[in-house]
Amino acid sequence: MYAQVINTGSDRVRRIDEMSAEEQAFMERIENGEKIEPKEWMPEGYRKTLIRQIGQHAHSEVVGQLPEGNWITRAPTLERKAILLAKVQDEAGHGLYLYCAAETLGVSRDELIELLNSGKMKYSSIFNYPTLNWADIGAVGWLVDGAAIMNQVPLQRTSYGPYSRAMIRICKEESFHQRQGYDIMMKMCAGSPEQKAMAQDALNRFWYPALMMFGPSDKDSVHSAQSMAWKIKINTNDELRQKFVDQTVPQAEYLGLTVPDEHLKWNEERGAYDFSEPDWSEFFDVIAGNGPCNKERLGARVKAWDDGAWFREGLAVNAQKKQTKQRKQA
Ligand SMILES: [Fe+2]
Ligand SMILES: [Fe+2]
Repeated sequence: MYAQVINTGSDRVRRIDEMSAEEQAFMERIENGEKIEPKEWMPEGYRKTLIRQIGQHAHSEVVGQLPEGNWITRAPTLERKAILLAKVQDEAGHGLYLYCAAETLGVSRDELIELLNSGKMKYSSIFNYPTLNWADIGAVGWLVDGAAIMNQVPLQRTSYGPYSRAMIRICKEESFHQRQGYDIMMKMCAGSPEQKAMAQDALNRFWYPALMMFGPSDKDSVHSAQSMAWKIKINTNDELRQKFVDQTVPQAEYLGLTVPDEHLKWNEERGAYDFSEPDWSEFFDVIAGNGPCNKERLGARVKAWDDGAWFREGLAVNAQKKQTKQRKQA
């Protein structure tokens, strides 16, 4: 899935005269489009913001497996089951690349998981919504992975090398995820009236949560200026949301579905759609832990972590044994 960044970095962009010589040189490299690599000097704020952003992104990939994993056993055909299984496995892989990228900044995977499991670190609010029927799996691939791609494509150019490289690989897989979701929607919409109604219902429920995936409106997003100066963030939340709407509305029309927004209208002058903002109070409420599935999702992650303790212990003992053997041989 993707990174929905809440509280990114410090609130104000530092002026050049406030910077040390080291920091000035660092900024110059960023402005020249150079990549920053793990062992190189970086401002503490840059490192911390990246850990938060990549960590939230990794958690979102892993938690994002839950609403879809739920449907693997109930996929309507063997082919659909194989496709969904591959997609959910991809998301696990995305989590792994991203935890590895975060580890290069000096935080351990155990620390990150502890922060997720204790509720101190967030994941994308979209995964706190339930997937009630098979059409929801179509809507998730189409809209949620679609929004993820919109967010992640520009991040391929992000200034931190390991994050940017992880994004390149992830984006290739996200395109397949989006296509498989849209393909489910096409089948449902070409099916019986009941199937089409299910597809419409899924769009109705996922439309606004998908718009929320880009984070709060620019006027309420206090932390993005510094992140943009550091090229950790490339576009503003509202820019990405607009792009997503402009791309998705014609796709809904092709399906013969109605976007649940009575104010949606093509604006000739802007060359873009006018649309309604999501209900931001709902967004903040879900982030605060009060969404329909927050407890269930976090509970599943904590249980998986606890159930895997014996395996992690086994790995550690084995690694220790190997080390002792190597030392004896040396
Ligand atoms: Fe995905
Ligand atoms: Fe993903």
